[in-house]
Amino acid sequence: MDIKVTDSIKYIGVNDYDIDLFEGQYHLENGMAYNSYVILDEKVAVMDAVDAIAIDRWVSNLESVLEGRTPDYLVVHHLEPDHSAGIQAFCDKYPNAQVIMSTQAKRLAPQFCDVDEARITDVKEGDTLSLGNHTLTFIMAPMVHWPDVMVSYESSERVLFSADAFGKFGTTDADEGWSCEARRYYFNIVGKFGKQVQALLKKASALDIDVICPLHGPVLTDTIGDVLKLYNTWSAYEPEDKGVFIAYASMHGNTEKAALKMKEILESKGCPRVAIANLSTDDMAECVEDGFRHSVLLCMACSYDGGVFAPMADYLHHLQSKAFQNRAVALVENYSWAASAVRTMKAEFEKMKDINLIEKTVSIKTRLTAETEKELEALADEIMKNI
Ligand code: FEO
Repeated sequence: MDIKVTDSIKYIGVNDYDIDLFEGQYHLENGMAYNSYVILDEKVAVMDAVDAIAIDRWVSNLESVLEGRTPDYLVVHHLEPDHSAGIQAFCDKYPNAQVIMSTQAKRLAPQFCDVDEARITDVKEGDTLSLGNHTLTFIMAPMVHWPDVMVSYESSERVLFSADAFGKFGTTDADEGWSCEARRYYFNIVGKFGKQVQALLKKASALDIDVICPLHGPVLTDTIGDVLKLYNTWSAYEPEDKGVFIAYASMHGNTEKAALKMKEILESKGCPRVAIANLSTDDMAECVEDGFRHSVLLCMACSYDGGVFAPMADYLHHLQSKAFQNRAVALVENYSWAASAVRTMKAEFEKMKDINLIEKTVSIKTRLTAETEKELEALADEIMKNI
């Protein structure tokens, strides 16, 4: 294996084709990549380790690009176990190599590996490491996605080693575009930390970047402008698309029928984009992503146990924990004898920041009637004013 990023920077990461659940909760269609890189210069720097499942293959990849040389440094941008699990194996194999990480990471490191503290050099904002022709400048990026995170910029070849930022679900060779799985990854894993991502983007805007080497997903080159633009939209909590995401939670199919009717009505009124998902069966992470993606979120759910049906309650909990904000929200409930879903959903959205709750709501009594369809039409008119 010898995958070039540039003539002197090699990819030594590992694609995990077998994993179907990342971080114990995110379903994967196309596996996951644990990326790692080597800079070959007068000194040799290995950029990050990998997940436990990938250590043997990573060490083998590393040895094949080293061609008998020995690494001088392991640069650790992030301590989460999908990257730090290999630190111990590296330090045992290369006892003279130094480990470089942020001060926060050095403080947390004993929780993740048993490496002699004397071997760890901590760096702070703006510190540099010369490898010969290559020089790394360290840039702190706390909470993108953990407090320990830093990125590094190699100035001679204009390469940004970006830690989790700009990563995605899926192996590096997955036959899919970047944005779909990068968006799902972003909102579910980093979404809560928009402010910190904005701070990193501000620092990145001062750099001339030709290549981004993230810890997951493909190395980015030609698409960097588009990727930075999307990250700016996402982290500013701005909607990416004008349109409506209909998230529904239906017990016996009546709320589902109403949701499908709303899709039809909105499309007939010229809504630029309508996406729909069944919260009981569709991927929760995708529903979170679609909530953030669109300018209006329409939640439709049945009343249940004096509150709202559990799949909707679960969805609202996810949105809240990911700092969902700055969107228009419309609500529809279904009930048979005691309406409680709108009241419950409204209370949840009132806890979130800058939510424009559309005043008009619709209550369906078990089944759609000609009268409630008219109500849905009227709600669609209100939604169209907020697209
Ligand atoms: Fe890929 Fe936050 O670890």
